[in-house]
Amino acid sequence: MRLVFSVNGTKREVDPPPAASLLSVLRDDLGLTGTRFGCGSGQCGACSVIVDGRAVASCLMPARQAVDREITTIEGLATGEALHPVQEAFIAEDAMQCGYCTSGMIIAAAALLARDTAPDEAAIRDALAGNLCRCGVYGRAIRAVQRAAGTRAVAAGSSPAMHR
Ligand code: FES
Ligand code: FES
Repeated sequence: MRLVFSVNGTKREVDPPPAASLLSVLRDDLGLTGTRFGCGSGQCGACSVIVDGRAVASCLMPARQAVDREITTIEGLATGEALHPVQEAFIAEDAMQCGYCTSGMIIAAAALLARDTAPDEAAIRDALAGNLCRCGVYGRAIRAVQRAAGTRAVAAGSSPAMHR
């Protein structure tokens, strides 16, 4: 099954099995292992990538549905040596522990900021709601997104804890 789609701005051609997920094509065929395999069932968000501007669970998306779409993975967020503002902010806020969820969270946040440059805390929580973190970095992740959006000072009085 020959498929052609755009990944991180480059046209890529793959020949996966008919039932292959976008996640398996990204990791196994294209070597883009920054996108994580977590639950494999759309529950954890570790496999999030941006498809035509929206963060999606790539473990659930058949690769054939990616044809003619623009895919952005964590490897595609930086511009040359310059990290994406969300990546910079996650580092600045130390918003990671084991790091397994981190690329998915950053992808979800980057997709949010691309459509809403100044999201309030509720919008940030909503955008990250599908990204589970067993290390519990939710509060720091929210602060990182606020930092990237430039709304950190405004939101400084709000609760850092994310209860779900
Ligand atoms: S691996 Fe895709 S949502 Fe968990
Ligand atoms: S930092 Fe460990 S799962 Fe989120």
